[in-house]
Amino acid sequence: MIETISKNVFLSISKSKMLNQAARKWGLRFGASHVVAGETIESAMAKVKELNEKGLVCTLDHLGEFVSSREEALEATQYNIRTLEAIHKAGVKSNLSVKLTQLGLDIDFDFCLDNMRQIVGTAKQYNNFVRIDMEDSARCQATLDLLRELRKTYDNVGTVIQAYLYRAEQDVKDLKGVSLRLVKGAYKEPPEVAYQEKAQIDENYMTIIQTHLLSGSYTAIATHDHHIIEKVKQFTKEHGIPKEQFEFQMLYGFRTDMQLQLAKEGYTMRIYVPFGNDWFGYFMRRLAERPQNVAFALKGFFGK
Ligand code: FDA
Repeated sequence: MIETISKNVFLSISKSKMLNQAARKWGLRFGASHVVAGETIESAMAKVKELNEKGLVCTLDHLGEFVSSREEALEATQYNIRTLEAIHKAGVKSNLSVKLTQLGLDIDFDFCLDNMRQIVGTAKQYNNFVRIDMEDSARCQATLDLLRELRKTYDNVGTVIQAYLYRAEQDVKDLKGVSLRLVKGAYKEPPEVAYQEKAQIDENYMTIIQTHLLSGSYTAIATHDHHIIEKVKQFTKEHGIPKEQFEFQMLYGFRTDMQLQLAKEGYTMRIYVPFGNDWFGYFMRRLAERPQNVAFALKGFFGK
C-alpha cells in the first residue's frame, strides 16, 4: 500500500515541468550522482572508461525528454551526435540510447525522423549502434513506426519492448531479427493497456524473452531481478543459445556486484549510463521503482 503510494508520488513528481526545469540549474542533488554519471560528455566518458576497464560495456544516454520546441530538439540531436563522436574518439566500448521525445516526437513525426536519421547515420559511420528507449504507452506505436522507417535504411538501430504492455508479445514477434532490449516497463500505465500485477508482468517478461531468443534474434535482457537473470541463464543453456546472441543490461549505480559477477562469468554486461543536467525525471522514476533507493536520496539531501 505505502509502496504503491510512494511509487505514484514519485512518478507524478517525475513529470513536473517546474521541478524538471529548476533541477537543471541545481546541479546533481539528493544523491542523484549515485545513478547519473555527471553533467557533461567528458564526465560521462570518464565513467565509461572506468566501467570498460572492469570488463563492462556501456550505453550512454544524454538525459532529457518531452521537449516542446524545435530548437531544443535540434540542440539535443547535435548533442547526441557529439556524444557518438566522443565515443569514437575515446575508443571506448559504448553505444547510444535515445528518447524520441527529446528529439521532437511530440512536435512532428517527420521532424523527429529526420533528427534520428542524422544520429543513426553518424553511428553507422562509426560502426556504432543506437537504441531507442521506449517511453509511455501513448508513444509506443509512433516509436515502432519510426523504427520501421529507419530500418528501411539502417540496420544499426533497435528499440525496447516493455513486458507490462498486453501488446508486447505481438510486437516482439513482429520485430523478429531486430535487436531488442526487453524490460518490465517503468511508466504508470492503466489496466486498459498494461498488466498491473508483478507476477503477471514477470511471467510475460519471461515469455517475450524466450520468444525473441528462440527466434534467433539478438536480445538484451535489462533487469536487476536476480530471479529473471537466473532463469535466463538456465534457459539459454538448455536451448544451446550462445552468449553472443544476448546480453544483460543494468542501470549505472545499481547492483554493481552482480554486474561484475555476470561479466566474470563471460556474459556481455552492458551498463546504461545516463548523464546531463536533465536528471530529475530519470532520478524520480528510479525512486518510484525501488523505495529502498529513497535511503540514498535522503542521505544525499541531508549531506548537501
Ligand atoms: P524489479 O524492480 O521488478 O525488481 C525485482 C526484484 O529484483 C526486486 O524485488 C529485488 O529482489 C531485486 N532488485 C531489483 N533492483 C534491485 C537493487 N537495486 N538491489 C537489490 N535488489 C534489487 N523501462 C522503460 O519503460 N523503457 C526503457 O527504455 C527502459 N530502459 C531500461 C534500460 C535498462 C538498462 C534497465 C536496467 C531498465 C530499463 N527500463 C526501461 C526500466 C525497467 O522497465 C524497469 O522499470 C526497471 O528495470 C525495474 O525493474 P527490474 O526488472 O529491474 O526489477
